[in-house]
Amino acid sequence: MTVREKFESMDYGTAPESAADALAWLIDQGDRFGHFIDGRMTEPGDVFESRNPATGEVLAHVSQATQADVDAAVAAARRAQKGWAKLGGPGRARYIYALARLLQKHARLFAVLESLDNGKPIRESRDIDIPLAQRHFYYHAGQAQLFDSEYVGRDVHGVCGQVVPWNFPLLMLAWKVAPALAAGNTVVLKPAEYTSLTALLFADICRQAGLPKGVVNIVTGDGSVGEMIVTHPDVDKVAFTGSTAVGRRIREATAGSGKALTLELGGKSPYIVFEDADLDSAVEGLVDAIWFNQGQVCCAGSRLLVQEAVAERFHAKLRARMDRLRVGSPLDKSIDVGAIVDPKQLETITRLVDGNTAGETYRANCDMPETGCFYPPTLITGLSSADPLMQEEIFGPVLVGTTFRTPSEAVDLANNTRYGLAATLWSENINVALDIAPKLAAGVVWINGTNMFDAAAPFGGVRESGFGREGGPEGMMAYTKPSGSGKALGKVAGFSSGPDTEPQAVDRTAKLYVGGKQARPDGGYAYEVYTKAGKLIGQAPLANRKDVRNAVEAARGASGWAGTTAHLRAQILYYIAENLAARKDDFTARINQMTGVRTGAKEVDVAVDRLFTYAAWADKFDGRVAQVPLRGVALAMREPCGVIGAFCPDDHPLLGLVSVMAPAIAMGNRVVLVASEPFPLAATDLYQVLDTSDVPGGVVNILTGRHAELAPTLAGHMDVETVWSFSSSDLSAEIERGAAGNLKRTWVNNGRSRDWLGAEGEGRAFLDAATETKTVWVPYGA
Ligand code: NAI
Repeated sequence: MTVREKFESMDYGTAPESAADALAWLIDQGDRFGHFIDGRMTEPGDVFESRNPATGEVLAHVSQATQADVDAAVAAARRAQKGWAKLGGPGRARYIYALARLLQKHARLFAVLESLDNGKPIRESRDIDIPLAQRHFYYHAGQAQLFDSEYVGRDVHGVCGQVVPWNFPLLMLAWKVAPALAAGNTVVLKPAEYTSLTALLFADICRQAGLPKGVVNIVTGDGSVGEMIVTHPDVDKVAFTGSTAVGRRIREATAGSGKALTLELGGKSPYIVFEDADLDSAVEGLVDAIWFNQGQVCCAGSRLLVQEAVAERFHAKLRARMDRLRVGSPLDKSIDVGAIVDPKQLETITRLVDGNTAGETYRANCDMPETGCFYPPTLITGLSSADPLMQEEIFGPVLVGTTFRTPSEAVDLANNTRYGLAATLWSENINVALDIAPKLAAGVVWINGTNMFDAAAPFGGVRESGFGREGGPEGMMAYTKPSGSGKALGKVAGFSSGPDTEPQAVDRTAKLYVGGKQARPDGGYAYEVYTKAGKLIGQAPLANRKDVRNAVEAARGASGWAGTTAHLRAQILYYIAENLAARKDDFTARINQMTGVRTGAKEVDVAVDRLFTYAAWADKFDGRVAQVPLRGVALAMREPCGVIGAFCPDDHPLLGLVSVMAPAIAMGNRVVLVASEPFPLAATDLYQVLDTSDVPGGVVNILTGRHAELAPTLAGHMDVETVWSFSSSDLSAEIERGAAGNLKRTWVNNGRSRDWLGAEGEGRAFLDAATETKTVWVPYGA
């Protein structure tokens, strides 16, 4: 083509980035990689090929780790951990800063290697993946520097097992490694089998930075190696990013092990275009939402919802834009869409799209490479929410969608998914945008922009998109745990009948408390409660599965509580405190009588005080504004989790229940509480206090009965978002396993005790557990 012809057509030429340095680095490493354990590369073992998906060429051979390799890596991390933590925050900060500097120094090499290995356009690896990875290390060098003063009362976990996916290989490594190291943990990380190379280059960077040996260990291999890491008995905390199916397996596999767990899983994120949106910007946003990284993005805006009045015009603009997308060699700097990571993933995308018969399918009219793993940008419109493609994660450059009429219909459609990772909304009307953002079930909401990330802004999902946050102080929390004594908790048993037991003159069988009313148990059974001397005090109902379901239904029905003002919730908590204080003598007598220990008065006093504390917190546990290096701010809002099911402590029948109930309802949750099993009657006495304190029906529901019998139903209930257990029955494994179904958040005591009368019995840990962070990105100063 002549220069003149080029001027006339205005076509882009190709602008290939050189692969020479990256290929030379691979050759220098000898083409076969071992693992990075205890500060050095091991000899390669059984190897598998790592290929360039754009060409099919073999780039290198990577080792499949054995159990012995994983054991060695975990042992090295364990040996290194104490010394690493002892360096102190500022000491660790120097190393993390050095890693950031080296990532910057070798940015080009990392970018090219990433594009070769993963197939993503060099423009993205160069301008997004690698700079964001650097930013993550810089930001966390700062978190380490401030750690000793800003994270008082938090302990480090120890050894972290981290498993990352193939869509952002280095960036996901950075998200995992940087905060872990900042807090004083050491890590064993496994990259995804398709994309191990930048993790191995990172190992080289760790060596260059002089990082103490064993602080970072990288083992490669497939899912079976991931499983060895997450189930390893000497791993204290597991962090995983990947598919929801594997996330669920990890939840099950780690249940009851005492390991801390965060999961960042899949999504089917809505991209909502209101009729008053800047349509051209919204079209351009879609290029970033669903064609960024070939749509292989957990938070991709993959479900397009357009307001009916502008739908036709919007779709026409979109199709025109799709036709201009350039699909081709990832190393070409003028390419928009690169290669799909692996033929297997291409097959999955093809199968899902070919299996669809609904709606109207439009494939971009762009030149496609003749070989390699490529898929054309595709738009499928006119689907209904029930169509599989509106529900299933395709994880490819395929946008599906439908239209809506009213904002409330948009919210219904947006939330009609089991996922809740992200959502994007476009409107020029600030009222519409800021009215809709809080209504979306998503951990991240972008307004008039999409797929924006920063180390200072928490990222993570709700529902089946997982739990835990990465980025910001919220992300640091996931790599620490509250300090505490944690002595073993023995089973607290009630008393049985003694020789002087007389039949009761009047029936003193308490009831359950469901939907603001006293309710008879479904099964009609009760159990007897005796004093230490064996005297019958009363009977408590034995709740069954049906009662749990009724209580959850009542709690769901009280959803208005989440929308009340924090001021109102504070007033109600004060009111409960006041009414409880007025009945101090009754409760004191009851507790003393049931427990046989004369601590009732103290327990009531602390319970009243605790209610005051959470009334105080109700309007003070605020979110924050993250300063992100984009023209916007990220609002890290605190939202209630929803319905929290909780097994209350057995040892402090009133205080334990109040300690669990008060933070939960202060933050806007509704609760289903299972009272102390051996000493249930303080809870049943509390109904009257709740009734007279203006607590709306359904906000607090109280059951009595056998914890172990009720645990599977409450943990497995699909309408419960969170389950806590402070029971002295050993429920941790049961609850964590049961929670895998809809990936509930859990907080269990792992058989450890807590001093309910002291500082451990209240505070930020409870408020953190009672809230989710929603990060809302808002244009600001733009
Ligand atoms: P995957 O979830 O199987 O792989 C992610 C990582 O987990 C890899 O490092 C893998 O080796 C490891 N892994 C697999 N099984 C494991 C186990 N039992 N225990 C511990 N680690 C294990 O994802 P895959 O199979 O590569 O992709 C399948 C689908 O998953 C994609 O089509 C996409 O829908 C989704 N996906 C979602 C991602 C996200 O960021 N949300 C990332 C990657 C995939």
